[in-house]
Amino acid sequence: MFQHSLLGERTNLFKMVTGMVRTLIAGNWKMNGLKSSLSEVDAVITQLGDFPDAADCLICPPATLVVPMQERAGARLKVGAQSCHPEAFGAFTGDLSAEQLKDAGASYVIVGHSERRSEHGERSAYVQEQAHACLRAGIVPIVCVGESFAQRQRGETKDTVIRILRKSLPTLGSSDSIVVAYEPLWAIGTGLVPSDEEIAEVHQVIRDLLVELYQDRGADLRILYGGSMKPSNAAEILAIKNVNGGLIGGASLKAADFMAIYAAAVA
Ligand code: 13P
Repeated sequence: MFQHSLLGERTNLFKMVTGMVRTLIAGNWKMNGLKSSLSEVDAVITQLGDFPDAADCLICPPATLVVPMQERAGARLKVGAQSCHPEAFGAFTGDLSAEQLKDAGASYVIVGHSERRSEHGERSAYVQEQAHACLRAGIVPIVCVGESFAQRQRGETKDTVIRILRKSLPTLGSSDSIVVAYEPLWAIGTGLVPSDEEIAEVHQVIRDLLVELYQDRGADLRILYGGSMKPSNAAEILAIKNVNGGLIGGASLKAADFMAIYAAAVA
């Protein structure tokens, strides 16, 4: 819990001083990265030192790289993971618990990513269990949600996002924190991005839901945008109301691209 409450305190202190939610720039490496990729992390760590400490920076590598990444991360780079099992331990071959990921050095875990929902059949009730497991372990869950292209075309985007989130979001204890990531399925890895107005509209309904579920605290929770975010569109997306950071796939794999997005966040 120690690292977890420190995270919360740092975010709260920042908000007290600036009146703003501290931006989070998060990389999701998905099933990419070998030990040789740690050179990109070293470049990220070096370049972070050139920027003011005005936004959080996180990389969620494959589980095989959590330990070596954490060992070199230092104070500025946070390390996370991409999924977890709801149970703390037991006969679950091939799975990792939130406690194990915490032990390995993860301070965030992505849950409910659309690739987990579609490839592994993870439903919202299961995602909620995963989020509760993260909180139990003192980890901040990044709860992902998004609509399909067909749902957007049918005008069902807001309803879909809210319906999924109501089932996926955890109950929060007094020292718990979560992050929500809005990732339209049709924007992931495609180069397609919703318009600024479309992003703003969805982030506003997510904000309203967070305030409904968590009262005042819901106003401070971070809502990330994800889906084809890159250096050329980051500044524009990050300037949208209620966009408190990004969850970046492809463009997080190269230090130069990832740091260009971070630069947009601290500019
Ligand atoms: P891309 O940035 O590659 O579109 O991936 C987004 C994503 O799925 C992050 O979780």
